[in-house]
Amino acid sequence: MSDVMDNVTGSNVNGNANNRVVLSCRDLVKSYEEGPEKLVVLSGVNVEIRKGERVAIVGSSGSGKTTLLNMLAGLDTVTSGVVSICGTDMATLSDSQRGELRNQSLGFVYQFHHLLSEFTALENTAMPLLLRKRCSIAEARQRAEELLTLVGLEHRLKHKPGELSGGERQRVAIARALVARPSLVLMDEPTGNLDNQTAERIHQLMLELAEKVDTAFVVVTHDSELAGRMNRILHLTDGQLLER
Ligand SMILES: Nc1ncnc2c1ncn2[C@@H]1O[C@H](COP(=O)(O)OP(=O)(O)OP(=O)(O)O)[C@@H](O)[C@H]1O
Ligand SMILES: [Mg+2]
Repeated sequence: MSDVMDNVTGSNVNGNANNRVVLSCRDLVKSYEEGPEKLVVLSGVNVEIRKGERVAIVGSSGSGKTTLLNMLAGLDTVTSGVVSICGTDMATLSDSQRGELRNQSLGFVYQFHHLLSEFTALENTAMPLLLRKRCSIAEARQRAEELLTLVGLEHRLKHKPGELSGGERQRVAIARALVARPSLVLMDEPTGNLDNQTAERIHQLMLELAEKVDTAFVVVTHDSELAGRMNRILHLTDGQLLER
């Protein structure tokens, strides 16, 4: 495991630190078997994301954006190809090592938030820190409260997901993805169901984090204004990811 953590801290990664590749995938293929038919969703995706870089992924509904994000986060198995996070090939890790690497380096915002229903907003947000052995409960709660305040939910700390609006749940999911200051955040339509003002607040927060703590963001979005603020816009079409 120490090798994995060396990679996470960047000591094993090629090139100079400012140019560090936090995520790469090579020849990524994902297909689903449907009886005798094979549905090829990704047919050879190549991409590299560097420290602090902000990248938008756009594409029509059903083009494979969520599938791609799940592969990049190691949440689903690839049919073929290699996904590396901070220099570590995900396929070389055991399930628990993959979980640890994700906890150390990755934040993920699902298209449909995936909060734990029996826990409060504060507990959901603090969860990635609570899973880290070296973080105290008091510290995790304080940091979670800070993040929930940044997304405008300081008055909803004790609410459970069932007691929150859709947009509020989405903001809790965003706070949870950022709470452990990961080097890479993958977001699937993070601000799709938020009003303009709240979405703007979240966009600003993302931009600040990218600048100040070199967090890289890969954001699936239909919002052309948000896509326009990213360093690059990648289009997913016919199973391929293209920069235009
Ligand atoms: N587990 C699965 N088994 C079979 N087909 C699947 C599976 N998951 C996704 N698909 C198919 O793969 C294609 C890509 O799905 P995906 O969810 O990645 O699209 P998307 O680009 O995120 O779309 P949207 O913008 O609507 O969220 C779709 O046609 C979908 O039906
Ligand atoms: Mg999707």
